[in-house]
Amino acid sequence: MSEKIVIAILVSGDGSNLQAIIESCQAKTLPCDIAVVISNRPRVRALERAEAAGIKTVCIPHQDYATRADFEEALLSALAPFSPAWIVLAGFDRILSSKFLHTYHQRVLNIHPALLPAFPGLHAARQVLDYGAKVTGVTVHIVDEGTDTGPIILQESVVIANNETEESLLKKLHEIEHRIYPEAMKRVLTKGFEIDGRTVRIIGDE
Ligand code: GRF
Repeated sequence: MSEKIVIAILVSGDGSNLQAIIESCQAKTLPCDIAVVISNRPRVRALERAEAAGIKTVCIPHQDYATRADFEEALLSALAPFSPAWIVLAGFDRILSSKFLHTYHQRVLNIHPALLPAFPGLHAARQVLDYGAKVTGVTVHIVDEGTDTGPIILQESVVIANNETEESLLKKLHEIEHRIYPEAMKRVLTKGFEIDGRTVRIIGDE
């Protein structure tokens, strides 16, 4: 029997992507062991979802730390005992510094609700609608030091309807996210990858 890949998931809010990953692990379509879910915000739904699934949770409120470096030190210390092979960001709302990213070099994943490099940062769906874009989508990428600038693993587009609202667009984007995040994770984590310039190539893919 093949070994499961140990991952840690960082969250800040609702955790619907966390839920999709948990369910993929439970269904054994994603061969991962979620060792710990860490939130930088107390009492969020994501922590409840993890606890309901019997996954260990840790809360490290970022406002308890004077600097980002101190917060990250606490985060790294909390992660270390689990020796996660990968760190998966699922709605985690803090920027990670190069020290953190050096520790988990090219092993931090994120999902963003827009077709990067368009509309990085917060409230991407609102940005898209304000701009009047006709197409948007979802991007899964490797995290680097920038805001949503890392090499792209997988993208899927969605057409924006004439009467689209932020709420209806977010619903469409979430449906895509919950499907493609576990799918992208499975490909990268189980097959491995190489990065040529900015291009991510999954080993064995055509
Ligand atoms: C998602 O839209 C994700 O793309 C972005 O943050 C949101 C998190 O939602 N990074 P949830 O907490 O997974 O429901």
